[in-house]
Amino acid sequence: MVDALRKLDADRRSAAERRFVRPVLGFLGKLRRRYLPELDENIVRLLWARRAWRKLANFLLVELQAENMGTRVTGKPYWLTIDPTNFCQLRCPFCPTGGERHIRSKAVLKLEDFKRLMDELGPTLLHVDFMNWGEPLLNRYIFEMVSYAKKFDIDTKMDTNLNEFSEEMAEKMVRSGLDCVSLSIDGLTQETYSKYRVRGDFDKVMRNLETLIRKKKELGSSRPYVIWQFLVFKHNEHEVERVRQLGKEMGVDVVGVTPAFLPFRPGIKDEWLPLKPEHRHYDPETFPDRPPWEWESAPKTEAPSLPDPAPVAPLPEEKLSAAAVPHVEVLPPRGGVRSIIERFFGRKRGGAGKEETPVINVQVYKEPEKRPRCNWPWAGIAVNPNGSVSPCCSVEEEIYDFGNIFTEGFSGIWNGPNYRRARRHIRDYVKHRQDVKTRSEHACERCFSIGRANFTFQPWWRFSQFDWWWGLREKDPR
Ligand SMILES: C[S@@+](CC[C@H](N)C(=O)[O-])C[C@H]1O[C@@H](n2cnc3c(N)ncnc32)[C@H](O)[C@@H]1O
Ligand code: SF4
Repeated sequence: MVDALRKLDADRRSAAERRFVRPVLGFLGKLRRRYLPELDENIVRLLWARRAWRKLANFLLVELQAENMGTRVTGKPYWLTIDPTNFCQLRCPFCPTGGERHIRSKAVLKLEDFKRLMDELGPTLLHVDFMNWGEPLLNRYIFEMVSYAKKFDIDTKMDTNLNEFSEEMAEKMVRSGLDCVSLSIDGLTQETYSKYRVRGDFDKVMRNLETLIRKKKELGSSRPYVIWQFLVFKHNEHEVERVRQLGKEMGVDVVGVTPAFLPFRPGIKDEWLPLKPEHRHYDPETFPDRPPWEWESAPKTEAPSLPDPAPVAPLPEEKLSAAAVPHVEVLPPRGGVRSIIERFFGRKRGGAGKEETPVINVQVYKEPEKRPRCNWPWAGIAVNPNGSVSPCCSVEEEIYDFGNIFTEGFSGIWNGPNYRRARRHIRDYVKHRQDVKTRSEHACERCFSIGRANFTFQPWWRFSQFDWWWGLREKDPR
């Protein structure tokens, strides 16, 4: 009897499903394909499963507005890159900070500024990257910041050189709930490591890595997901196989053998460009001694008057500069940190660790057939330690920033003249109505990486979120 009733109920439900639910879902699917052809459905499913309605509504709204390339955005960014500090103890020569190019005011992010920002953006954010132009672990409140972001159920990631680390910091890192940490270790001996990571201490970094892995085990936590990022240069490419093996032995989750970006200067090709094609972005035949384009002139001569806050933690070997030294130099186009990671973990390559290095033949920077759209000005925001807002994570010079989020507030900047001009330019560029304006004083208008500096959600990101949301919570040591 009970079985018969159950069957009747199931029949009724499947009839209702055939009549109502499926057509409605089919209709929604058509709308989606028509108006949001590039929507990442995994993110939608994930937010739906999580019942994160506010994040989901904001995500759909932003994606719709980005697709239409409107200049005013009513949604909020769902991706935040925030730089905990732009100080660094290392001197990696091709990094603007390590290379001491003095193009940004030096600052350390204050905890109260970060919390204010989170209170405003946290409810709609999906991801926070704690890094950009400096060493995040030099901010003594870094783990408090991560914990605070986790209260808003946000996926979090950090890149670090791991030179400044301890048992206590390892414990704090694990307990903070950080989802992913990418460790920049580009060598297997002090000699090969410190050729790029100048002033870095290889043995110390390896001890620190062991400490982190051990701490995760002790606390029974699967977080943070550990990536060993190995930038490949000519001097370390013979170590690639060994690093893959060593990473596995040591218990890191993924070894990311990543071709490095190189500046176009005399001597760089011979000294730094790897010999194997799979280890480099560039075609040696066309690798030039100087950038293959000319900036017509440096349009601005002064840095904007941004507040230069005192550091919250004493930092070694660095002095605060009173202001950014006005300086514009010819730069190679770069796809930004996101696209560095994307190149390695990108969806097209089918998941983490599957390498397929795109060769950047410098000729590629000619007109692409189908002009791509940057997603940053609609969906992401890059905030520097002093609150200065960059249109994306690859804008190196402070003079091109869009305003200060701590003093001017988010909404004034997000739909202010600079952002609207950026969106208008990208829209006109994509529609072939406008080209790169080399004389412009606006970052997006003069950007040669236009369309290439996109962030994407990575496959491991989704899995990390599923783990987090679907059952590993009891393992969380907090
Ligand atoms: C500027 S660093 C800041 C974070 C941290 N200090 C670090 O080095 O990991 C951000 C990212 O850029 C990467 N990076 C530095 N120099 C690079 C290069 N020449 N090519 C590609 N990625 C580079 C770093 O390894 C790191 O993943
Ligand atoms: S460790 Fe990171 S921030 Fe420091 S100089 Fe190197 S790449 Fe730049």
